[in-house]
Amino acid sequence: MSKQFDVLVIGGGPGGYIAAIRAAQLGFNTACIDEWKNATGGPAPGGTCTNVGCIPSKALLQSSEHFEHAGHHFADHGIGLSNLSIDVAKMLARKDQVVKQNNDGILYLFKKNKVSFFHGRGSFAAAKDGLYEVKVGDESLLAKHVIIATGSNARALPGAAFDEENILSNDGALRIGGVPKKLGVIGSGVIGLEMGSVWRRLGAEVTVLEAMPAFLSAVDEGVAKEAAKLFKKQGLKIELGVKISEVKSDKSGVTVSYADAKGAAQTLAVDKLIVSIGRVANTIGLNGEAVGLKLDERGAIVVDEECKTNLPNVWAVGDVVRGPMLAHKAEEEGVAVAERIAGQHGHVNFNTIPWVIYTSPEIAWVGQTEQQLKAEGRAYKAGQFPFMANGRARALGDTNGFVKMLADAKTDEILGVHIIGPFASELIAEAVVAMEFKASAEDIARICHAHPSLSESTKEAALAVDKRTLNF
Ligand code: FAD
Ligand code: NAI
Repeated sequence: MSKQFDVLVIGGGPGGYIAAIRAAQLGFNTACIDEWKNATGGPAPGGTCTNVGCIPSKALLQSSEHFEHAGHHFADHGIGLSNLSIDVAKMLARKDQVVKQNNDGILYLFKKNKVSFFHGRGSFAAAKDGLYEVKVGDESLLAKHVIIATGSNARALPGAAFDEENILSNDGALRIGGVPKKLGVIGSGVIGLEMGSVWRRLGAEVTVLEAMPAFLSAVDEGVAKEAAKLFKKQGLKIELGVKISEVKSDKSGVTVSYADAKGAAQTLAVDKLIVSIGRVANTIGLNGEAVGLKLDERGAIVVDEECKTNLPNVWAVGDVVRGPMLAHKAEEEGVAVAERIAGQHGHVNFNTIPWVIYTSPEIAWVGQTEQQLKAEGRAYKAGQFPFMANGRARALGDTNGFVKMLADAKTDEILGVHIIGPFASELIAEAVVAMEFKASAEDIARICHAHPSLSESTKEAALAVDKRTLNF
């Protein structure tokens, strides 16, 4: 006997579980299928983000930052410590506990919102009479609307499959059992920098090999330059413009052969190698062929700007479709699709999606970079304020970096905000709100910001757009 739903969501990551909750809130009889298993084989909804992404990486970044502070910065505050050590097993157990709290939280939210949860792999079986049939284990589910949110997987280097022992994806990178003496990272993107930072802070000698000739090429050039300087000072070795030729792994570790930026042959011998060269959309096991679901040449599900696939009443959101692979983008799409199914006007503004890299200092931005504005030929004004001149940053002992604001030369509308510095991840929210409301730099400059707070730097950057900073 099949169970029938109004809305069936396949995938319980940030895109899927949020879509399911919103659909249920809107009065639909909703189910969500997710196949992720915890260590004992039980359900672990939350997807990549909760299990091997956003949440565990931030847990380890926090632990390793405490260790770094204790080792290098507590003394400045007059706090003495002897015999500082790191218990990696305990750090990983704490991280696992944080993940479990999030898994359990989602199961609770499903119950609270009356979303039926099915643990297993959802596969399309057929489309008939205006309904889609999806199998999960022995069960057959029918639904009028299907939202696909099956996420993404780490991309492997050709000839270097992940074994999660020596050659690590994000999964293995988050559970290295002890601090490696030497750690190699391929790709200086978001994962490479975050995971490289974790293990560097704990004592590993980290070398990052990056194919592109420029560091963080999607980031505002001024911020990327500052980040490169600070990461180098911290001891993170980053080699740009490399071409990897071979990766060999055996019991003693991993050897990477590559050509450096000048074309000279080089080798890097490490104990562990993290490969973080991007992610690929995941439709494994979905059996989209059964219903004629269209994929693009990269394997992503083809959708229009409203997340509609080529099939009537089948939608797709998050990492499995075009656009940035970010949890909050997946969530926004999930909400918008549920609202569109309800006949509402769900909306996602791609121009105001914030990005954050949780290194130290943190890097966060929204909107356009200075190089993008130049390429577009748009007349703009730039204002920048250093945390060095901010009282709260001085009190924190964290004065690296700055806030940079870009505004239209004529209208003063904010076009982009780029932050490198303490709590950039939190500070960026003000810029997102400002841009969503089409604020001008002067609007921010005239708003009262608490003193002493890091957010005063955003106000000062806005004042700097008009060349009238008060504290610099
Ligand atoms: P996913 O989270 O991948 O969820 C998909 C779910 O669907 C999974 O549970 C999967 O098991 C399930 N599934 C797949 N196929 C089926 C099927 N056929 N049947 C049933 N279930 C299925 N983003 C941020 O915004 N901030 C961060 O700080 C951040 N940190 C990250 C750190 C790392 C190390 C990584 C790898 C990623 C990070 N991301 C971060 C990206 C973020 O994790 C993804 O953008 C986000 O998880 C995408 O959500 P999703 O719902 O589209 O897919
Ligand atoms: P990425 O796209 O951020 O970076 C990949 C890097 O690898 C790029 O710099 C690229 O030039 C480089 N590269 C590609 N092929 C290479 C090769 N053969 N040799 C050397 N370098 C090569 O991808 P990453 O770091 O794997 O992360 C995947 C995605 O996960 C991110 O794009 C982001 O969407 C998401 N994520 C988000 C986080 C956040 O929001 N804080 C944290 C971690 C991941």
